[in-house]
Amino acid sequence: MALRNIVTEGDPILRKQCRPVGDVTERIRMILDDMVETMREANGVGLAAPQVGIMRRLFVAEPAPERVFCFVDPEIVTMEGEQESEEGCLSVPGMAGTVRRPEKIRIRGLDRDGEMQDCSFEGFDAIVMCHEFDHLEGVLYIDKAKNIHELTEETEGK
Ligand code: NI
Repeated sequence: MALRNIVTEGDPILRKQCRPVGDVTERIRMILDDMVETMREANGVGLAAPQVGIMRRLFVAEPAPERVFCFVDPEIVTMEGEQESEEGCLSVPGMAGTVRRPEKIRIRGLDRDGEMQDCSFEGFDAIVMCHEFDHLEGVLYIDKAKNIHELTEETEGK
C-alpha cells in the first residue's frame, strides 16, 4: 500500500463530476487500500477518489475505528429526516462549518470485492457517507455550510 497526496481546495479536480468505475479490478482494490491508508494517516473519517486526484466514483469511510466501508459506484437510494452538525474536510484543511444533512440514508454500491452492498446509516455515519458522496459530484461541504470558520484545534477531517 502507498500513501497518496490529498488534493486541496482550489484544485479544479475537486469540482468535477466523477465517472463510474464499472468493475472492481485489482487496480481499483489497490486504490481503495491506498485511500484507507491515506485517510488514516490524515486522521480522517472518510476520503473520496477525487481527493487523491482520481476522477472515479468511489470512496472509503471509517466513521468509527475499525469500521471501514468501501463504496464503488454508490447511489443514495433514500434519505430521511434532518440533522445539523459541524464538518471539516481533508481537502479544506484548518476549516469547519455547520452543514444540514439527512438523519438517515440508504446507500447501494459495490464493496471492495465487487459485491453489491445495500446499507442504512444514521447519525454521524450518515453525515460521513453524504459528505463523501458529494465529493463524487464535485460538491464540497463549504458549498452547503454556514458559519465557516478556522479551527483553533485539530478536529476530524473528511
Ligand atoms: Ni471531504
